[in-house]
Amino acid sequence: MLIHSATQLLTIAGGPQRGRDLGELGIIENGALLIREEKIYDIGTTQALRKKYPEEPTLDASGSVLMPGFVDPHTHLIWGGDRAKEFEMRLEGTHYLDILKAGGGILSTLRDTRKASLEMLLTQTRSRLRRTFSTGTTTIEVKTGYGLQTATELRMLKALLTLDRQGPLDIAITFLGAHAIAPEFKGDPQGYTDHVTEIMLPIVSDWWGTHAPRHQNKPFVDVFCETGAFDLAQSRQVLEKAKELGFPLKIHADEFDNLGGASLAVELGAASADHLVVTFDEDIEKLANSETVAVSLPCTPFGLAHCDYTPAQKMLDAGVILALATDCNPGTAWNESMQFVLALACRSMKLTPAQAIVASTINSAYAIRRDDRVGSLEIGKEADMLLLTVPDYRQLGYRFGTNLVKKVIKRGQVYSVDIGYYQTA
Ligand code: NIG
Ligand code: FE
Repeated sequence: MLIHSATQLLTIAGGPQRGRDLGELGIIENGALLIREEKIYDIGTTQALRKKYPEEPTLDASGSVLMPGFVDPHTHLIWGGDRAKEFEMRLEGTHYLDILKAGGGILSTLRDTRKASLEMLLTQTRSRLRRTFSTGTTTIEVKTGYGLQTATELRMLKALLTLDRQGPLDIAITFLGAHAIAPEFKGDPQGYTDHVTEIMLPIVSDWWGTHAPRHQNKPFVDVFCETGAFDLAQSRQVLEKAKELGFPLKIHADEFDNLGGASLAVELGAASADHLVVTFDEDIEKLANSETVAVSLPCTPFGLAHCDYTPAQKMLDAGVILALATDCNPGTAWNESMQFVLALACRSMKLTPAQAIVASTINSAYAIRRDDRVGSLEIGKEADMLLLTVPDYRQLGYRFGTNLVKKVIKRGQVYSVDIGYYQTA
C-alpha cells in the first residue's frame, strides 16, 4: 500500500535524540510511504514514490500529518477497581503518601486486583487498551504491581501476555513486584524486599521461560524507590538480583522524595529512570552521561494537583535523553492518551511540540529498548503510524482534549478512528 500526499511526513529518523538535539522531526513535505508485509518498504516524496510504484493500491493522506505511532513507555494499565473516592480525599487535603500509609492508595487497588479473575482483568484492561490505541499509541509498556503476592503477579503477567498476543497494540511487560510493601509484611519492608528478591524474582524468571513466546524479551523489573515504599538499599537489592537473573531494569525515582534512585539506575545500567520530579543536578549529570532514558510523567503531578514537574530544561541542557509517558494508573493519573501528555509537557516543561513528539516516539521507544523496531518512519521498521486530522504537527500540544488521530496503522493494518457524528471531513 502506498500512502501518499501527506502534507507533512514526520520520519524522526536517525535514532534517539539527546539533550538539545531533541526535536528533529525529519519532515518530508508532500510525503509518501510504501508498506509491504507489515513493514516500511520505501519512503520519499509523493512524486518520486508514485513514479516508482505506479501499480500500488493507494491511501490518500492529503491534509494530514503522517507520523510514527506513539510509544507509551510507562503505564500501570492493568488493575481492578478504581480510586475516585481517594481523588476526592486528596482534593480535601490528604497527601497521596499518607493515604498509602493508612492502607489505601496502591494497597486499595491491590485488594481489588487480588479479587479480580483473569477474565475480569482481561476485559477491563482491553477496554483501556482500545482507548489508548484510538488516541494513537501503537506500543505500550504495562507494569504488574497490584498483586504483591506471587499468584496475582503471575496472573497479571499472564493477562499481559494474552493481550499482547491478541493485539493490535504491542505490549512491553514490566514486573513491579516491588511497588509497595505487601500487607502481609506490614511494618517489615526488609522482609518483603527479601521475599521479592529471594522468592518472587526467581519464580518469575522461571515462569517467563515456560510461558512467554520467543519474541517477547524478558520483562523489565522495576521498583518504587520512595519514602514509604522501598529505600535506596532495598531498591538496589531488588535491581541487583534482577540484573543477575538477566532482567532489564527500570526504576520509579524522585516522584516525591529524592532517595538517590536516578543515580542508582545509571549505576546499574537501567533502561530508564522514571518520574524524576525532585531530581538533583548531580543526578541529572549522571543521566546525561549514560544511556538511561529520563522518562517524565507530567500527568502525575497534574493528576495530583501538584505544582512541580520534571526539570526538563535542565536535563536538555545537560544532555539527557528525555522521553514522555502517561503513567496511566488508577491512583495518580488515569489518562490513556499520549496527546494529552504532549499538551501538558509543552506547558509544564516548556517543550516545543517538536520536542514533545520526539520524546513520545523514538525516545520513548528507546526507553523500552524497542527503538530498532518502532518510534520512527524508516525503511525496515514496523509499519506503525498515524494519520492526523490536521496538516501541521504543531497542532499536537497546542490543542488538547480532542483526539487528532484519524487513522491508526499498526503493522500495515489500517484502523479508522471514529471521530464523531458531527465531523464531516
Ligand atoms: O507511578 N508511584 C508509584 N506508582 C504509580 C502510582 C500507582 C498508584 O497510585 O496506584 C505512579 O504514580
Ligand atoms: Fe508509575
